[in-house]
Amino acid sequence: MSIRPEAPADVAAIAELVRRAFDGHPHSDGSEPGIVDGLRADRALSVALVAEVDRRVGGYVAASPVRIAGRASSWHGLGPVAVEPALQGRGLGAALVQAALAQLRAAGAGGCVVLGEPAYYGRFGFAPLPGLVYPGPPAEYFMALAFGDTVVQGEVAYHAAFGGAR
Ligand SMILES: CC(C)(COP(=O)(O)OP(=O)(O)OC[C@H]1O[C@@H](n2cnc3c(N)ncnc32)[C@H](O)[C@@H]1OP(=O)(O)O)[C@@H](O)C(=O)NCCC(=O)NCCS
Repeated sequence: MSIRPEAPADVAAIAELVRRAFDGHPHSDGSEPGIVDGLRADRALSVALVAEVDRRVGGYVAASPVRIAGRASSWHGLGPVAVEPALQGRGLGAALVQAALAQLRAAGAGGCVVLGEPAYYGRFGFAPLPGLVYPGPPAEYFMALAFGDTVVQGEVAYHAAFGGAR
């Protein structure tokens, strides 16, 4: 398995992989492949990494800038994260999340937020951050990982490609 930036030749395989990974997911409305395409079309993918397994796209992670309190910020939103169903549970997801966080840190990001399962994202250091809020889901599902000690506060807004979903 190797992790590398997405390439133009991966685009169709990424959309299919993301669709399969979220198919039947309880919190999915099937919008995830379109979110990735929308972020890419708007050049808003701050992270777009592929986990390549046997020369195929086995996993994918994206991140995009978020706005905080109505203003552009140095923070990013992680997701979607997707691993081919047959390859789940082998550490690909963890490797992708770690690589995405390392890339954001190296790029000077202030931090990263994620909307997801606390039991999964907690292992990477994500936790609810008082004052940093996302309207809608129960507070424990919206988590943050600060890369520095700058205090951030306010409501977080994802890129428009997430539509009403995020
Ligand atoms: C979530 C996902 C990316 C994890 O990828 P993965 O390669 O299976 O993850 P890893 O192998 O690194 O980690 C597996 C661990 O995560 C746990 N896990 C996976 N999905 C989980 C979830 N939704 N909630 C809690 N734990 C979860 C597994 O139980 C396993 O736990 P263990 O290490 O204690 O045995 C993958 O399961 C997936 O694509 N799911 C469908 C899409 C999705 O839900 N994406 C995340 C929301 S943006």
